[in-house]
Amino acid sequence: MSAVKMDGKALSAKVRNQILAETECLKTQGVVPGLAVILVGDDQASQIYVRNKERACSECGFYSEKHILPATATEEELLELIDTLNKNTKISGILCQLPLPKQISEDSVIAAIDPQKDVDAFHNSNVGKIMIGDYDFLPCTPAGVMELLKEYNIDPSGKHCVVVGRSNIVGKPMAMLLLHKNGTVTICHSKTNNLTDICLSADILVAAVGKANFITSDMVKPGAVVIDVGMNRNEEGKVCGDVSPDVMEKASYMTPVPGGVGPMTITMLMKNTIKAAKLQNGIS
Ligand code: GUN
Repeated sequence: MSAVKMDGKALSAKVRNQILAETECLKTQGVVPGLAVILVGDDQASQIYVRNKERACSECGFYSEKHILPATATEEELLELIDTLNKNTKISGILCQLPLPKQISEDSVIAAIDPQKDVDAFHNSNVGKIMIGDYDFLPCTPAGVMELLKEYNIDPSGKHCVVVGRSNIVGKPMAMLLLHKNGTVTICHSKTNNLTDICLSADILVAAVGKANFITSDMVKPGAVVIDVGMNRNEEGKVCGDVSPDVMEKASYMTPVPGGVGPMTITMLMKNTIKAAKLQNGIS
């Protein structure tokens, strides 16, 4: 039997409609959520992500600004721009698209964003809040995964949740959100021994590795829920996830790539932006 496809596109459309309605309500109180997106350099994938974020802003009724800096920009120039955006009351959220050119320290840039405008939830203070479980902003990709699980009535409580990948953006916060929902969480990475055995014991398997078709059918327990965070290109240039498509035949639920986690990530960014606008205007 084939797994149920967890439709991130449909759920995104639903949540964006709710956000649009909330934006209309905020506008009657004189508040317009605003997002500034910064892109440094000409990475093609980043350009597509930024375009999708702008489109989502317009769908949600937000004000948005795009700031494009050349690949040769200095850290000082970028920090100056962030300082200006931190002070701009039209801007509720600031997102600096990663990766950055190597002359710029990502850590310095993340630290420079006002934590109240840090809609990526990358700033140390927001990461700390997530760890404690008392947060303003949820990290967008893991939050999108949690929304998908909720939509399909999949409760992580008591389940063995295996997260493959330990990045600050996805793997680590993903593990934390599953833990907050009482999952029993294992984080695997490139140095993990017996990866196949651990994956085989997963009730919920989250692949956030960044390698095309890394998780194969022999690594998946029949009936497991499989979440594919990957966005890779195979040899023919086709977009594919971290999970081999034939896992569909083993899993009970699975996210497709594209159309699973990807659209949810951007929708969660919109949720964080509206939250930021409310926080900055004392609206609960
Ligand atoms: N690059 C890849 N994913 C992300 C993300 O979620 N936020 C930012 N700022 N950059 C990214």
